[in-house]
Amino acid sequence: MTTFQNFIGGKWQSTQSGHTFPNYNPATGELLGEFPLSDHADIDAAVVAARAAFARWRLVPAPKRGEILYRVGELMTRHKEELARTMTQEMGKVLKETRGDVQEGIDMAYYMGGEGRRLFGYTVPVELPNKTGMAMRDPVGIVACITPWNFPIAIPTWKMFPALIAGNTIVLKPAEDTPLSALRLVELLYEAGLPEGVVNIVFGPGRPTGEVLIHHPEVNVISFTGSTETGRHVAVEAAKSLKRVSLEMGGKNAVMVMDDADLDLAVEGILWSAYGTTGQRCTACSRVLVHRAVREALLEKLVPRIEALRLGNGLDEQTDVGPIINAKQLAKVHSYTEVGKAEGATLVTGGAVAQDGPLAKGYFYRPTLFSNVQPSMRIAQEEIFGPTLSVITIDSLDEAIAINNGTKYGLSSAIYTQNINNVQCATRDVTTGILYINSGTTGAEIQFPFGGTRGTGNGHREAGLAGLDVFTEWKVVYTDYSGKLQKAQIDE
Ligand code: UN1
Repeated sequence: MTTFQNFIGGKWQSTQSGHTFPNYNPATGELLGEFPLSDHADIDAAVVAARAAFARWRLVPAPKRGEILYRVGELMTRHKEELARTMTQEMGKVLKETRGDVQEGIDMAYYMGGEGRRLFGYTVPVELPNKTGMAMRDPVGIVACITPWNFPIAIPTWKMFPALIAGNTIVLKPAEDTPLSALRLVELLYEAGLPEGVVNIVFGPGRPTGEVLIHHPEVNVISFTGSTETGRHVAVEAAKSLKRVSLEMGGKNAVMVMDDADLDLAVEGILWSAYGTTGQRCTACSRVLVHRAVREALLEKLVPRIEALRLGNGLDEQTDVGPIINAKQLAKVHSYTEVGKAEGATLVTGGAVAQDGPLAKGYFYRPTLFSNVQPSMRIAQEEIFGPTLSVITIDSLDEAIAINNGTKYGLSSAIYTQNINNVQCATRDVTTGILYINSGTTGAEIQFPFGGTRGTGNGHREAGLAGLDVFTEWKVVYTDYSGKLQKAQIDE
């Protein structure tokens, strides 16, 4: 059994307290390693290292920073299979998906590497003669990246790569369920030539590790992905010292199926976005809003496909659905089955912990479907973060859109229809950050802004060009070459 260390200021370091926590494989229960349980002294050391590195890193020309990211992209490509296997062992999703997770990080490395030769600011005319003005992007300083376990490589790259290209330095605290994937990523960053101290990784749970990090006075930006409850806490605490905070939180995403939909296509999209990653995506589909005219036909096609999904270890290429991340989440997912039954919804399939054969060693849950769900029920309103899907019957597009928009979250939506007017109305009226036409609710690409409205976020976006806004300050530089005092707004 290996005991891993934090990586601070270019050196592997144990915690000063000597405390550690275990990391288990959720499919088998196997112990994968012990990781440092970091506290004040460790966070402080990491922030001091990041601050020292910032003084140099911000002066490295952005195209050079970009070249390091290109090399990271190459290294991630070379190590893709190994990273994917580590990730599957650590958090359970199937290899096809962990390969996709790594690919999302590779895409981000090349995309942000390219920004090294762009990072566009702008110049516009100024109102006085012999004077120019330009707006440019400066780094903000020290960025704390607090990342979840469901995308253990992709999400750290969405935060770190734009922060790095803009010249910031980083303290990364990955979720305690997926420390190893993040550690491997950081190793590749240094293999690619990142200078010491530019990225520091500290391991530990939300308390005390995350808590200490968000309160550290030298941290300038907090980029957090996780639950809405924790995100709200981060925002409230960070407000006290006016830190910039970018939050990516929950979802309660719906697929709308209209009466003219291609039902076979809809079934594929629903299956993939509801049960892929065992439903543990913030973009996962957890509601189907189906038109009454095609409800029975859809269920007839969908239910056998759900029942045919193979549960198992994600390392087995035959597996469709891996385990839930840990015992606590498994209990939470099952508690929602009880809630749904008590609320009067019809449990069509699933709704139980799966324990046959080797499944007994892990945290497996049967893919679950409820029908006769009312939009106001808790199973249709609250984020379950598991393989549980609710079917709600609708009679019109307007009703579907109102229900789609009617939760406290606003990340992703989808509509299946062949009617251009339905498409245009949905495009106009859906109030989530992402909308898919004739595809499920997952599968966002890194060159577009990622994030959502209402309780999903706090107005920021990750990825795409918008992702740079979180990690840059606008600086405006006026140059007056008239040789005299010119007064804006006053001189004629
Ligand atoms: C998440 O669930 O936290 O669109 C991120 C998707 C992925 C990203 C999901 N590209 O489902």
